[in-house]
Amino acid sequence: IKESNEESSMNSINIEEHALINLHSILISLFSNAIKTAYPTLEDIGQPAVSAGSKFADYQCNASMQICKLLKAKGENVSPNVVAKKLVECLGQCNIIEKVDVSGQGFINVWLSRNKLRDILQYVLENNLKPKPLTNPQKIVIDFSSPNVAKEMHVGHLRSTIIGDSLCRVFEFIGHDVLRINHIGDWGTQFGMLIALLQDKFPNYKTESPPINDLQQFYKQSKVLFDSDLEFKKRAYECVVKLQSMSPDHVQAWKLICDVSRKEFQKIYERLNISIIERGESFYQSRMENLVKDLENKGFLENDNGRKIMWSPESSIPLTVVKSDGGFTYDTSDFATLKQRIEEEKADRIIYVVDSGQSVHFDILKKCAIHSGLLDPSKVRMDFVGFGVVLGEDKKKFKTRSGDTVRLVSLLDEGIKRARDKLVEKGRDKVLTDKELQLAETAVAYGCIKYADLCHNRSHDYVFSFDKMLDDKGNTAVYLLYTLTRIRSIINNLGTHTQDLNEPISLDHDKEWKLAKTLLRFSEVLSKITEDFCLHHLCEYLYDVATIFNEFYDNCYCIEKNPQTGEIVKVFTGRILLCKVTAQYMNTGLNLLGINTVSRM
Ligand code: ARG
Repeated sequence: IKESNEESSMNSINIEEHALINLHSILISLFSNAIKTAYPTLEDIGQPAVSAGSKFADYQCNASMQICKLLKAKGENVSPNVVAKKLVECLGQCNIIEKVDVSGQGFINVWLSRNKLRDILQYVLENNLKPKPLTNPQKIVIDFSSPNVAKEMHVGHLRSTIIGDSLCRVFEFIGHDVLRINHIGDWGTQFGMLIALLQDKFPNYKTESPPINDLQQFYKQSKVLFDSDLEFKKRAYECVVKLQSMSPDHVQAWKLICDVSRKEFQKIYERLNISIIERGESFYQSRMENLVKDLENKGFLENDNGRKIMWSPESSIPLTVVKSDGGFTYDTSDFATLKQRIEEEKADRIIYVVDSGQSVHFDILKKCAIHSGLLDPSKVRMDFVGFGVVLGEDKKKFKTRSGDTVRLVSLLDEGIKRARDKLVEKGRDKVLTDKELQLAETAVAYGCIKYADLCHNRSHDYVFSFDKMLDDKGNTAVYLLYTLTRIRSIINNLGTHTQDLNEPISLDHDKEWKLAKTLLRFSEVLSKITEDFCLHHLCEYLYDVATIFNEFYDNCYCIEKNPQTGEIVKVFTGRILLCKVTAQYMNTGLNLLGINTVSRM
């Protein structure tokens, strides 16, 4: 989250405005300014290197080494230590900094003010972890999930769904205006054969809903006919033409087919708590016609053996805008979609969450859109957020034993079963009510599937393993959920001792301080995600918070009990408050990953 008017507020950080303070970016601006003041003639060195969590300080800046090199190139010989001292002299005042010093080798060590950080956490405790409304929220279109009608929604779409939803949550949390779009594949020549088969098999389709629950099967059947029966093929083509000219019967048949798939998709979205607006390829039919005319008039289209293609000077592959039979392609539909998002939605940012296999398609699309004058990258930012393939435990493409694509519904069912087995194995069924057990098992099952996806660098392939994701040790959703319920039960078990929690949050012990500093990296992590779309930063953050919390809890008494009676004899209020605020950060973070939390499990 970018600090608004960073410069002016640097001297005294106002907590009301900075509940989501980004300490890292504040330090970077302070050091940037110091460099400019100390060495005004030096060329811009970019962002000075500032890092958190060294053994020697809360933050450390090692820009001095880089500056020395640049000075040396100009014939000026100074040591990093001297440079560092000069930077410290030029460092502006800032009330989050307690103390700064310079190491022999020229590292600049920064210690943060415990009082100031305590104020921020205290503010979060009282007002919740909420950014203040943005003065200039952006319109952000996020294109994700996007399965295809009449085909199986597969694990690739699951990845897009999970990553896309989480990105939406992050941008929405920050305060942007996000449009969640499901760009389903509901248009194209395949509908000709589906409609032709529907007419053959269920001639009454106009009055009676056809029983085509297994649409995949139906699709395969029509494909076989299409490839073997010339008569059928011809009729299939006619059906496409009629559909595209909006003949009512054909449109009705098409709608029936889409409904079957839509119901299947919806089951997955409901279970995973995904909200998304369906706006498939069909939405763009008339816009594609207009686009093609427009590109044609402006002379962007070139005839290539009957096809109409478009080049950009930047790329070695063209877009196919019109096929030789006059039909449109995936390229045409994405071009028209982009135009709609820029001109009608007035998007400031457009994000595509699609498997990395389609990176070339989006790259050419972007270049042609810039070339045609549609996209001005200085005004609208377009990002392709690719991701790797899901692998089975045999490191091959994730498939069932018989080699079919895994049905997502069965995958979720198995997750639920495995999560329940795990809870039963731990004897939780004897402690929890039925309702609690059910909440826990869904939180664990869907949480672990989402987390296993999000905690890897998205561009890598990842191995799908229920055993690994359900492990309660290590970087898993289960570990995080357990830690959060542990914190919640510490607070809940206080009983009548909760009345007077009005001491300051305790930050004196090393472990308390370490936890506080870690919590306050939250905003830095979110701001990184808005740049590189890598949600594993947030997973790593939450894992750090959880392990550091557990370290704190093992080292610092929060409640003292009478060993005989188990009665509470002393409450360390300042620490309980630290527990509370930790729970707030963890709960918010998990929600941004789309993971439901529970109070008992
Ligand atoms: N339906 C496509 C597929 O399953 C993904 C669509 C992604 N979005 C887009 N605007 N092309 O591969």
